[in-house]
Amino acid sequence: MKKHLTILTSLSLFLFSVVSAHDGSQLWLQGSAPSATSTLEIANAELNQSWKGAAPVLRLNKSMKALPDGSFSITIQAGTPTIQSASEVGLLYGAYHLIRMQQTGANVRDTALVEQPSYNIRILNHWDNLNGTIERGYAGRSIFWRNSADQMRRNADGEVNEEDLLHPKDAPEIPSVDRLRDYARANASIGINAYVPDNVNASPKVLTTEYLQEVKKMADIMRPYGMKTYLAINFASPMVIGGLETADPLDKNVQKWWTAKVKEIYKLIPDFGGFLVKANSEGQPGPNDFGRTHAEGANMLAKALKPFKGIVMWRAFVYSPSDPDRAKQAYLEFQPLDGQFLDNVIIQIKNGPIDFQPREAYSALFGAMPQTREMAEWQITQEYLGHSNHIAYLAPMWTEFLQQVKDIARCPINNQLLAMSNQQSAQGSKLKAQNSKLTAISAVSNVGNSPSWCGNVMAQSNWYAFGRLAWNDELPACQIADEWARLTLFPGRNDAAATKALASVKGLMLRSREAIVDYMMPLGLHHQFAWGHHYGPEPYCDIPGARPDWMPSYYAKADREGLGFNRSSTGSNATGQYPADYARLLDNPETCPYDLLLWFHHVPWGKTIQHRCGSKVMRESLWDALCHHYQQGLDEARAMQRDWERCQGLIDADTFADIQRRLRIQTRDAQWWKDGCLLYFQTFSTLPFPDDVEPAVHDLDKLRAIKLGITNYECPSQELLDSVR
Ligand code: GCU
Repeated sequence: MKKHLTILTSLSLFLFSVVSAHDGSQLWLQGSAPSATSTLEIANAELNQSWKGAAPVLRLNKSMKALPDGSFSITIQAGTPTIQSASEVGLLYGAYHLIRMQQTGANVRDTALVEQPSYNIRILNHWDNLNGTIERGYAGRSIFWRNSADQMRRNADGEVNEEDLLHPKDAPEIPSVDRLRDYARANASIGINAYVPDNVNASPKVLTTEYLQEVKKMADIMRPYGMKTYLAINFASPMVIGGLETADPLDKNVQKWWTAKVKEIYKLIPDFGGFLVKANSEGQPGPNDFGRTHAEGANMLAKALKPFKGIVMWRAFVYSPSDPDRAKQAYLEFQPLDGQFLDNVIIQIKNGPIDFQPREAYSALFGAMPQTREMAEWQITQEYLGHSNHIAYLAPMWTEFLQQVKDIARCPINNQLLAMSNQQSAQGSKLKAQNSKLTAISAVSNVGNSPSWCGNVMAQSNWYAFGRLAWNDELPACQIADEWARLTLFPGRNDAAATKALASVKGLMLRSREAIVDYMMPLGLHHQFAWGHHYGPEPYCDIPGARPDWMPSYYAKADREGLGFNRSSTGSNATGQYPADYARLLDNPETCPYDLLLWFHHVPWGKTIQHRCGSKVMRESLWDALCHHYQQGLDEARAMQRDWERCQGLIDADTFADIQRRLRIQTRDAQWWKDGCLLYFQTFSTLPFPDDVEPAVHDLDKLRAIKLGITNYECPSQELLDSVR
């Protein structure tokens, strides 16, 4: 009997340890965020609570000052670690790195390493409105503004009150200190060192004294964790809150207003980082409204910030409704301004020339402004990748982008590009202006006040991956997936069952992005999304009188002949914006990479193309290729479900069920995408599906009628989706 009891006890202990893993609320961390106000104390507290072994020695070493800020070394001799850095924040990063090494099973007996960041500023952009809603946010309400009390009002149909969406309430609300500290800690643990808490569609109110005092409180919580505070500003602020009649950047009173405002900010927040600006884009005010250039607008702000070492991140996301090719617009507007921006201005460019599509060509602006500082903007929140319903691990997309810009820079014939980089190695040169200390990378965050922070636990991997890549842009996506999944889903586990489940989760993560490209928009197709909220397919979208470049048909250009946007030299000549050799490659449909084919070419339905679909290289007509990719995407979504099923019983039960449910939605959505797009394009091609492609299960007319009726602030519920299809 006693023996049985012992077996039972150890069995229940085992079972407990098997299923008591993370529910996601702690992210990839364990323990709690130290509340100390000194960075060094935080580093020590983190090591005390998480490091197992001989006490690490933390040493400030001024001789490391030559390395980028935050760099550190770790030397471990016979199990005793020494972390050194020129700064306290470097020691904190070293502490997190050491803990991560131990928790991911790296050698922590005898080793020596030096870590330095790829970019000096590693910054999250939050599209959070002052009323607590989050534009393109799918994880609840803002953690920075009105996070609890002021819930949005809804009418009887569940629609959010327009007032609540558009106009912030008058009084700012103090955010939860604990949540902000946890946020700061999570960022520091992966090397992120800056944040912008308000939307790029900025409210002028954020610069009122009342709001700035709230921002000061945030900054005070973030500072010990090495997080610098920036603000997105509205260019018309001097008019809206300053009572001036103009916001013309060359007007003396406007300049004075900004100078005084900047002084006020630095008095409250001495280490304030600077401004992020969306100007003359999608209805936002900007210098063009006063007949001035982007450079004149940016420089006016830069001058005000300069005495305090502040910077301006000026976004290049612009596209005029009249231009025949939206993809060319940012280049056309910004490239001629090269050399005109002050040295504390950095141009923030989305990775692709359109808008965070699941696959884009890289933006030709990278490397095209050798006298100007440039930084990339990625999107973590899944505006175009199934919101928080779809599981999409985005590191493969970002490493693909990094590879593209580096490869082009390395191409020997592109001598002008290589010459542009004063760096010894061409590595990342298009992202880093010559010899500049001002190097930066940003991403639009997916953080909200939902218990899992990001809408679901798997979506956290993209926050994690951004931080790791911003720190080291050479890290492979699979290594980051491995780290994240071990730390988040299987902390402290290296038994056989967990190892098997880990492999399954990694398989799911690594196949997810290509699966999404395949079931949404393969072969270079883009922007076939539903109007406004961008959830689900709507290639047939037709809004009378709407801007053409907000319509899917503008991008797909489907007709009786074929499919795709002719951006070659016989079309809009967007290819001509790329460095010469790469442009030649893109310009010819025979040499253009197949996964960007329809991005750059209008291809006849019957034209034979060579492409890769899953693991197979195939030669077949465009139509057959298209059908095979949609089928592949659907098959992969199903495979992702199977990957996840293998984790049952090995991770937290609620987390398991939540992701299982989302994968079901994702697979149904993949079917919706496949049927919606193929049935619609079939009305032009008039060709049958190949035999090995499943027939549609939906009816095109019914799909055409779907309108989800959600705002740009929410993810559709399962019930809503089930009710419409
Ligand atoms: C997209 C997105 C908007 C956002 C804009 C931007 O257009 O849909 O919600 O404001 O990008 O990046 O400024």
